[in-house]
Amino acid sequence: MTSSASTVTAMRTDKIMAKVVRVNDVFDDPDGLLNFLFNRAPFNLIYGKGGYEKAGGAEPWFREHWITDGVVQVPGAENYLQNRKLIDAAKEAFDATVIRPYGMFWNLSGPMIAGRPHLDTSPYRGIDDTKWPFWLHVVIHNSQLFIPWAVPSTTGLILFYRGSIGGFEFWPNGPEAPSEQALPPFWNYGLVTDNEFMFHRPMAIGKAEDHILPGTFGAEAKLHRHPDGRQWQVIDDTGVRFEWQPETVRASLVWKAFTFKDQKAADIYDDHSDDLNYDIVWQVFGEDLKARGSSLRIPADPLNDREFRAKLLAEYPNPGLRYFEDARRGQAA
Ligand SMILES: [Fe+2]
Repeated sequence: MTSSASTVTAMRTDKIMAKVVRVNDVFDDPDGLLNFLFNRAPFNLIYGKGGYEKAGGAEPWFREHWITDGVVQVPGAENYLQNRKLIDAAKEAFDATVIRPYGMFWNLSGPMIAGRPHLDTSPYRGIDDTKWPFWLHVVIHNSQLFIPWAVPSTTGLILFYRGSIGGFEFWPNGPEAPSEQALPPFWNYGLVTDNEFMFHRPMAIGKAEDHILPGTFGAEAKLHRHPDGRQWQVIDDTGVRFEWQPETVRASLVWKAFTFKDQKAADIYDDHSDDLNYDIVWQVFGEDLKARGSSLRIPADPLNDREFRAKLLAEYPNPGLRYFEDARRGQAA
């Protein structure tokens, strides 16, 4: 069918993944890093970005992109990308030799309920999110049918949070084995993981009575530095809605890197000699739908057939739905 079977040796599934490597004191100058971030306030909500909605409206989760697919969005961010400790941890986690960092973004979260157990969407050779529809990328990942084209990729999560409630839960031995938790306080503390194939979630932040439920403020709200420079304010169109002490907000930097086993694997990625394309995608889905006894068939114009898109997404839901009661409450976040 394709050349992928001969060029990719390690198959990955939602039960086989890299180990989690913990890293202390990730950055040499955490105060300088945080000052650089905080001076860029105000920050926008993540609400409204595809796949991040919880029912009921916006919640106190803000995001700042620094580097996306190797493109620097915030000049100066590149100084933090080639972090030696994260690169070494990624080599260890994935038993890889070629580590290529390509992304950084920040999450800033206020008191909120837990996220749902989920997988992040893996990169795949040949899928360019600026050209491919994102729903197709999601259903490709959900289906787990295209793992030979998945680009091994790591997520380094570097946490800064002096509050007492607001951990990270993960399932390093698969979704049916007990989870592990990393619990605060955290400062400059890293977890280098395989979030594309390891279920994980942010745990609730802050005490239950302080949680800000989805929809409490407007979708246009922003997280501002308080004029005193130490505190935070959430401001929407109606004014200042919340004021928070520094320890109320959990800052986490997400660092993404490709983790190639060897130079040959990196070369296959670079030279596009074994990329996915639409023909392969529809062929694989078509064969699997038949094999599973589905009556769904690939239509003449699958990219523009909205009914087909809905049915394909229903046929291959987020794998978390199979394992977690929580994940059935809505889309993963
Ligand atoms: Fe995630």
